[in-house]
Parts: sequence; C-alpha cells; structure tokens
Amino acid sequence: MLLVTGATGNIGRALLQELVASGAGPLRALTRDAGGSFPAGVETAAADLADLAALRRALTGVRSMFLVSGLGADAEIIDTARRAGVEHVVLVSSITVQTHPHPPPAAEKSAVEKELQASGMDWTILRPTQFASNALLWAEAIRADRTVRAAYADVGLPTIHPADIAAVARVALTEPGHRGRTYALTGPERITPREQVAAIAAALHRDIEFTEISRAAARVELLPFFGEASVDAVLDVTGGDLNPELLRVRDAVARHTGSPARTFHRWAQENAAAFR
Ligand SMILES: NC(=O)c1ccc[n+]([C@@H]2O[C@H](COP(=O)([O-])OP(=O)(O)OC[C@H]3O[C@@H](n4cnc5c(N)ncnc54)[C@H](OP(=O)(O)O)[C@@H]3O)[C@@H](O)[C@H]2O)c1
Repeated sequence: MLLVTGATGNIGRALLQELVASGAGPLRALTRDAGGSFPAGVETAAADLADLAALRRALTGVRSMFLVSGLGADAEIIDTARRAGVEHVVLVSSITVQTHPHPPPAAEKSAVEKELQASGMDWTILRPTQFASNALLWAEAIRADRTVRAAYADVGLPTIHPADIAAVARVALTEPGHRGRTYALTGPERITPREQVAAIAAALHRDIEFTEISRAAARVELLPFFGEASVDAVLDVTGGDLNPELLRVRDAVARHTGSPARTFHRWAQENAAAFR
C-alpha cells in the first residue's frame, strides 16, 4: 500500500493521477475531508496529520509514503510512519535548504530532512524551487479587476510546474534506484513575475495590468498569507537575496521522468479557469 499525504494539494492530486495512470497500487489518499473525491481505485483515509492515532490507522499496511512536509509535526509523523512499518518515504522539502539555509522556513525543512535520514527508513528527498501555482495568489485580483501588484517584477526564477514534482515523486516511489537520493527540482527556464502575468493574460485572451511595487509594499500585502515568520524569507527568495544556486535551471525532471519539464505557460493554460 502506498499512502499520499497532501492528496488534494498541488502535488498530491497530480501524483495520484500519475500513480493510477502508471498502474501503481494499491493507493490510499490522506485528506482531512472525509468526502474528498479521488480517482477510481484510490482509497480515502480521513485524517488530520495533527492526530497521530488517526495517522496510525491511515498507515495500516502502508509500505511507501509520499510526505508533504510542514502539514503537521513532521518529527512525530516520521516516527509514527517508522513504527507503523513504512519502508520508504518520499519527502517534499524545498530548494531553500541549499540556497538559503538559515532563515526559519528552510531551517525547519533541513531539520525534517535530517529526521527522515536518521529514521532508519529508506528515503528520497525532493527539493523543488518556487511553484508555478504560487501565481494563484494573484487569482482574486485578476478575477476582480485584472490587475497584479508584485515586487521584483523582472527577476526570473526557474519556476516549477507542480505536476513535474509529482512526476518525479511517482518515479521515486515506484522505480528502483532513488532511495538515499536528494533531488533539486526546477522548471525548464527562468520566468519573471511580469512574464508570468503575460502568460496568464495570453491564456485568458485578456489584458492584465501589472504594477511593480516596493518590497515594503509587497511585505504588507503578503503578510496575511505567509505570516511574520516567513514573509521576509519569501521576499528574499523571490528577488531580495538571489544567488546562483537559486537561479540555476536544472535537468533533474527530464532526467528522472524522461519528459522535458513543463513551462509556466503550460501551467497558465491548464489553470486559466482559476483566473476567470
Ligand atoms: N509553493 C512553493 O513555492 C514551494 C516551494 C518549495 C517547497 N514547497 C513545499 O511544498 C509543499 C506544499 O505542497 P503543495 O503545494 O502540493 O501543498 P498544498 O497544495 O498546499 O496542499 C497541501 C494539502 O495538505 C492537506 N493538509 C493541510 N493541512 C493538513 C493537516 N493538518 N493534516 C492533513 N492534511 C493537511 C490539505 O488537504 P485537505 O484539505 O484535503 O486535508 C492540502 O490540500 C510544502 O511542504 C511547501 O513547503 C513549496
């Protein structure tokens, strides 16, 4: 049995589709929503990761686990998985562990990686860069008045399509040769916020007005989404504190999946409805 956490999220939903399409199984999806709907043949486990007794029940018979970090107390989740007999965990961490290791969000990811590596279970660690789906933060403003306000308008980052993280996770979960490996994952090219908005506008066949704002103004607007503990780190890794490691386009998606990494333009086309 293979358990997917974060099963209704950007990566988890795509991962379940990948696993079903590739004939992997049996599969179980963990969600807090008992009514959640998943592809045919996928079992639903209704559990909050804060509830370790419920997690233990969801882990019955599970040998492989896809774990999205940061949804609960990761150290306890990893320990519960080990005790339940899980053999292999594929963990979603973050590229910031290697690009910006010191601010709190990355330090937490780094700690989770170490806990997993010390757990005695087999592990594969995925360190994705900024997700294309972060553009959904602009969806309300685009729907309401076709405007976007963002800082660092012309800073291009190698944004990744979440389905490519899922594709690598599927390979790591179901094919040999990926245990004890850490993969930094990016998209196929760097793309700026201004270019992302242009791609969304093209997908909608409508104009969207883009306004570059200062870091201070962006901080005020992003604070409700990211909180005091993370907002400065988010602004650093999206333009305020760049380094070559963060900017580097990597070939890991294509190397492990055999298909080129998907572009932001593709993500925008697939998700245009969210901005209408
Ligand atoms: N966004 C980025 O740019 C970026 C970059 C690098 C790394 N990351 C990492 O990527 C991960 C996020 O992946 P994602 O975007 O696929 O996630 P997501 O879309 O935010 O979805 C996470 C899912 O987890 C479930 N969930 C939330 N709290 C839960 C809880 N207490 N117990 C059980 N389930 C819970 C929710 O499903 P239900 O409501 O169905 O329970 C939700 O759909 C995080 O670890 C993040 O740090 C993100």
